[in-house]
Amino acid sequence: MHVQIPLVSTLSLWQSTAPLPGYGPLRSDIEVDVAVIGAGITGLTAALLLKRAGQRVAVLEARTVGSGVTGFTTAHITEALDTRWFRLIKNFGRDGAGIAARSQRAAIERISALIAEEEIECQFRRLPGWLFTEEDRGVIELEQEAETTRALGLHVSFAEPPLPFPVKAALRFDDQAQFQPLRYLAALATAVHGGGSFIADRTRVVDVEDGEPCRVQTEGGTVVCRDIFVATHSPVNDRLLLQTKLSQYRSYVVTVRGRGQSPAGLFWDTVDPYHYVRTAEDDGGWFLVVGGADHKVGQNPDTVAAYRHLRDWIRPRFSTSMLQGKHPVEHEWSAQVVETVDGLPYVGRNPTNGHVWVATGYAGNGMTHGTMAAILISDLICGRRNEWADLYDPARIKPVSSFKEWIRENVDYPLHFVADRLKRPAARSVEDVPRGEGRIAEIAGERLALHRDEAGTLTALSPVCTHMGCEVRWNPDARSWDCPCHGGRFAPDGQVLDGPPIRPLRRKKLSITEDVRKTDPSTAIVRRLGLAVALGGMLFGKLGLDPAVAVIKRRRERGRVVTQAWTRWTILGAAGMMAAALARVRENFAAPGCQGTRRVSLAADTLFAIACLTGAMNLVCGVLLTRTAKGGAVPIETGLRSGPAMTLRQRRLHRTMVVGGWTQLAALAGALALQSPSQGRASLI
Ligand SMILES: Cc1cc2nc3c(=O)[nH]c(=O)nc-3n(C[C@H](O)[C@H](O)[C@H](O)COP(=O)(O)OP(=O)(O)OC[C@H]3O[C@@H](n4cnc5c(N)ncnc54)[C@H](O)[C@@H]3O)c2cc1C
Ligand code: FES
Repeated sequence: MHVQIPLVSTLSLWQSTAPLPGYGPLRSDIEVDVAVIGAGITGLTAALLLKRAGQRVAVLEARTVGSGVTGFTTAHITEALDTRWFRLIKNFGRDGAGIAARSQRAAIERISALIAEEEIECQFRRLPGWLFTEEDRGVIELEQEAETTRALGLHVSFAEPPLPFPVKAALRFDDQAQFQPLRYLAALATAVHGGGSFIADRTRVVDVEDGEPCRVQTEGGTVVCRDIFVATHSPVNDRLLLQTKLSQYRSYVVTVRGRGQSPAGLFWDTVDPYHYVRTAEDDGGWFLVVGGADHKVGQNPDTVAAYRHLRDWIRPRFSTSMLQGKHPVEHEWSAQVVETVDGLPYVGRNPTNGHVWVATGYAGNGMTHGTMAAILISDLICGRRNEWADLYDPARIKPVSSFKEWIRENVDYPLHFVADRLKRPAARSVEDVPRGEGRIAEIAGERLALHRDEAGTLTALSPVCTHMGCEVRWNPDARSWDCPCHGGRFAPDGQVLDGPPIRPLRRKKLSITEDVRKTDPSTAIVRRLGLAVALGGMLFGKLGLDPAVAVIKRRRERGRVVTQAWTRWTILGAAGMMAAALARVRENFAAPGCQGTRRVSLAADTLFAIACLTGAMNLVCGVLLTRTAKGGAVPIETGLRSGPAMTLRQRRLHRTMVVGGWTQLAALAGALALQSPSQGRASLI
């Protein structure tokens, strides 16, 4: 299938080229053997293996199949792990590293077998992987890695990589692979659903309860089961024990359409953070897929610069004859990787639980680690022995090898917990939040996470992360609120996107006492001018200027002048008010205001409406009075004051106008005072 893609798509290449199945949410309580939380590569592989072993499985997915990190991976299927094998030997000994090596090979072969058995068309392709270096010091690292991996039984050799730029050295890993991960996932999902097992998407798990039986609480019902497998990438059931051993990094990817012969292979360099490269085919040809620029979640204020870095990295290395178009970048996306303090994932029984199982900490090797985890967990749940179990046990502690790393990763929590609260907020008023952006603001003495969408609607949230209380930060690239402590991420409306939090950010209601809507300058000018004219007209008529003019004119034209002049000013005032009212209506329709409470400028609007009503009433009364004056019944010397010579009707009209006039003046002055200064102030309710 070939899908037309816009110039730069923030969907991943896989999302643009794979149709994914949908299932619908859980709507009632159910009972199964195993509940699997998360429909990524880990959850779906485990669900299929468990189903094949005769278990009734329910896969519970908060969003849709493949909407997690598996939808944003680059899908290198490899034994060349992010943590060098010589380091793994240091941390786990030769035997431990040997078990890890066997588990990685087993995972590659299991992916290959599942593809064959389920007849999955997902562009699976065996090809070599290349660990290369452009630096002199990287050569020693490669030599060390070559020696270790050979000792562990991996097939590696030094050779010339098929890259269009020079390298200092490259280590070739034989028999690695790549695929289109979402096509693979879609087929796994189809194989899982049915025959007593099922997938419920748009079903967020809000609580996990260990026991006999276990219970999984979702937004749509409770799942009662014997075992629970938390396959959510970052475990949502653990607040402390595992989280202190994990850290979350954001990684970025760009794709560029290539031409001619593609460099077949998987490529990784030795810089930190490293770059990873592969190609991917579609009906229109092939893409170069380059990733890297990793940083800890929530700790890089300029996430957009990460894409710039990748583009700058590609430009001198891949000639334009190899890449197509003037603006060659076709996709840009980013997602999260979870790292552990000792370099291997945690897979097994959740510490302190009996029937809750977890798998996390895959770093950039989730295709093999996720598949390995699925094999291991399905074995453990089915009571089968597996030699990998001790190595990956989530309860393990490696005080010697991982202490430094543990300290380094965990200072973040106390540091950010305290320091971020003392930081000056980026915004002091809702006006400081541009469209499409988010800002931490302090309003009415309280810190808020404010987001304004492209249409201008403002959403106010508590910035306190619902995991362990750190303050979230705006990520302009992913348009999310990211937590710098354990990598929790939230959508602009507060819903959980990634990481350990389960509950959304708390909504806050803003009572906007001023006009917070972005007014275009012409509307603002018309509104202000209209109000000024209205006020001027009223003042002229009410505060004696009009009678003064009348006195001058009276000498020449007795009788009708006062009421006519008064009416003219009243009409002018009314016209000003009409203009102001129209501008106001236009403004209201042009830009939606604050989400939360919509009590936007309520007081100003009410006062303005009162002024308009009393103005209209006065106008009618003025016209009627003028008519009676034409008949010569209103003596000029009374001016605007009620005189004894007035008829009863004239007196009533006159009294109504006096009361209405002052009311109108007061309301108008109030409206103007509330509207004009300091646009955009808000308070909390
Ligand atoms: C940019 C990037 C490039 C990468 N490249 C590679 C690579 O080349 N090779 C490789 O091996 N690995 C790579 N990785 C890592 C790999 O993609 C991941 O480790 C792997 O996809 C994780 O799979 P998963 O099934 O564990 O998690 P996910 O795919 O994230 O699935 C977890 C699912 O759980 C769901 N979920 C979360 N919370 C809840 C809840 N409360 N209730 C219900 N459901 C919930 C989520 O919606 C999600 O769908 C890369 C990662 C990134 C970010
Ligand atoms: S405090 Fe842990 S993710 Fe935010």
